Order: sequence, then C-alpha cells, then structure tokens
Amino acid sequence: MRKVQAIVVGAGRMGKVHSRNLKQIPNVELKAIVDIDQRRASELANEVGAAPFSSLSSAIASVKPDLVVITSSTQTHLPLIKEAAENGAYIFVEKPMGLNSKENEDIVRIVQSKKVKLQVGFQRLYDLSFIEVQKRLGSGEIGKPLIAELISRDPSPQPGIGTILYPGAVYDDMAIHDFATMVWLFGFKKMTLFATGMAAVFKEYKEAGDYDNTLVNVKYYDGPLVNIDTSRCSKYGYDIRLEVLGENGLLKVENVTDYQTFVYKGDSVTHPPYLWFEDRFRDAYRREIEAFVKAVMNDERTFPDEVFGMQVGRISDAAKKSALEGVPVTVE
Ligand SMILES: NC(=O)c1ccc[n+]([C@@H]2O[C@H](COP(=O)([O-])OP(=O)(O)OC[C@H]3O[C@@H](n4cnc5c(N)ncnc54)[C@H](O)[C@@H]3O)[C@@H](O)[C@H]2O)c1
Repeated sequence: MRKVQAIVVGAGRMGKVHSRNLKQIPNVELKAIVDIDQRRASELANEVGAAPFSSLSSAIASVKPDLVVITSSTQTHLPLIKEAAENGAYIFVEKPMGLNSKENEDIVRIVQSKKVKLQVGFQRLYDLSFIEVQKRLGSGEIGKPLIAELISRDPSPQPGIGTILYPGAVYDDMAIHDFATMVWLFGFKKMTLFATGMAAVFKEYKEAGDYDNTLVNVKYYDGPLVNIDTSRCSKYGYDIRLEVLGENGLLKVENVTDYQTFVYKGDSVTHPPYLWFEDRFRDAYRREIEAFVKAVMNDERTFPDEVFGMQVGRISDAAKKSALEGVPVTVE
C-alpha cells in the first residue's frame, strides 16, 4: 500500500512533537521538515530522516504531499494553509487556527473551496481523561450540567520564539484550549461572556497590553455556567483541571501526573506535577495525529475541523473584546 507523504512546517516545540509522532506511524513517510531557521530544520530533519527546506513552496516542489502539518508561528497559519490547500494536501494546523475571526473565515472558505480537509490541534479533545468526561456527560449520567470549571495554568510564559504578544493574546494562545473544551462539551450556542485579565507578574505582557492571569465567565442561555481560569504563573508546574457539576453528580479531572506517587517527608507531602504540556499531553498529541492520518487515508471527516476552529476563534475574539473594553459580549 502506498504510504502517505507528509511535510511538517515548523521545527520548534510542536514541530518536534508532531514529527516524532508521525515518524512512528507505519503508513506515513515523513519526507520534509520546513523552517525559516535552517539550523532548526536540519536538526529535526536529521533526527527523523527527512529532508530540510526553508519554505513550504520549496518542499512542495520536491515532495507531492498528501498531508501538511503546520506548527509554525500562528501568524503564518493562513498563508501556509492556503498554499497547502492549493496543492491538494490535507492540513493539520496547530491551535489557534488563524489569528482572528476574519482569518478563520478565510481559512474555512479556502479549505472548503479546495475540497481538502483540515484538523485543528486541540489535543485535549484526544485526552483520555477529558474524553471520559465528554462521554459520561453525553450519556446523561450526571443529568443536566449546571456549573463547569476549567483551569489551565502554565509554569511560565515561555512562548515559542515566534509568538507575538498583543492586547488580549492570552485568549488566542492559551484560553483557546479551554474554549475548545467548552464547545466540545456544551456546544456552540448563544452565550454571554465577561472576561477580566491582569498582567501581574511578567512585564513583557504588561507592555504588550496582554495578561498573565485571566478569568472568563460564560453563561450559556440554556446552561451551564462556565468559569475559565487561566494563568501563566503556576510556579509549581503545569496544572490542567476540569470539573462539571450536574444535577445528579460531579465529573472531575484532577491534575494528571505520570505517577500516583506521593513523597512524604518530615515537613511536607509532595506529588510532583508534570512540568509542561509536552509531558501532560504526550498521549493526546499522538492520538490526535494518528486520527488525522486515518482521516487522510480513508478520506474521512477530521475532528475538530475548520468550522469548529472558527467557532472557538469567535469565542476568543469575544473574550478579547470583553477584557479590553470591560463589557460583557454575547456570541451566537
Ligand atoms: N497544542 C498545544 O498544546 C500547543 C503548544 C504550544 C504551541 N502551540 C501552537 O503551535 C504553534 C507553534 O508554537 P511553538 O511553541 O512550537 O513555536 P516555536 O517558536 O517553538 O516554533 C515555531 C517554529 O516556526 C518557525 N517558523 C516561523 N515562520 C515560519 C514559516 N513561515 N515557515 C516555516 N517555519 C516558520 C520558527 O522558525 C520556529 O522554529 C503556534 O501556533 C502555537 O500556538 C500549540
């Protein structure tokens, strides 16, 4: 059987994660690694046995891709999606899909007019603990959902080298994972949200008009109430939690770690968390890219797709507006 020909764009943090996972999938031939930084492209290409390129155009001139995985800085997503779609490749793009709703609408138009498929990298939707919540909620086991709490805490800002800071970027870059989880669990329906943020610790966020801590309160018109709590300041490690209170019970994902090992000492009890996302979501990243490859091979629907990416982007745009203008914003 012919192997799927793959190109990865971006050899940074997420480029490494997805390239290493693609390399493990038997039906995939990872042919090219593209990065404008040639050293990065060569190092990762050497590691995974692919060829390095400095642009997607030059890679496509040499490889006819079935799929392109886009992990470069967010501001490059739209032009790269366009180029991949025009060459008939299916596209996996890291979150956020585009920089804003205008870009997301362009992406939906491009993908649908070129009749290719696109998947967005919201890996929490492939995390087994999160999936368990989604399944049990869907089965009606805890009855009508009443209140949900979504907590995302990063141990430091440590953005990618190409990450741009701008007013309210935290909603597009970080809280967007929680918006995606929320839409997956409760749907994209009429909601009013109110967001507040502060740059309390890192001066580069303050100077850019962005925040390192933020809360977003969401009221779905047909329930539930959702609280999204996002911080870049969890000195103790990476901390991702989810809780849904329903009429008949509670579903809860604690901060998952590798071990259930607690360390007891004279004056302390510790249960070290993961340090960062690459470890906490290791399996979910593998599962999402496997699902994407399967969709490409069988020409099946991708999940989450470009419409989902656009809906989630509308919520992050609304949160930005709310926080920056100090007003509640309705999304429908
Ligand atoms: N799903 C997740 O958990 C997760 C985690 C981190 C980052 N991300 C997303 O992944 C994307 C990349 O983030 P990162 O942390 O890997 O960044 P990074 O800075 O580590 O890597 C980005 C790479 O893209 C390269 N690049 C920039 N413009 C390019 C272009 N036009 N063509 C080719 N290469 C180009 C840069 O040289 C850099 O090597 C962002 O969209 C980010 O939001 C997702």
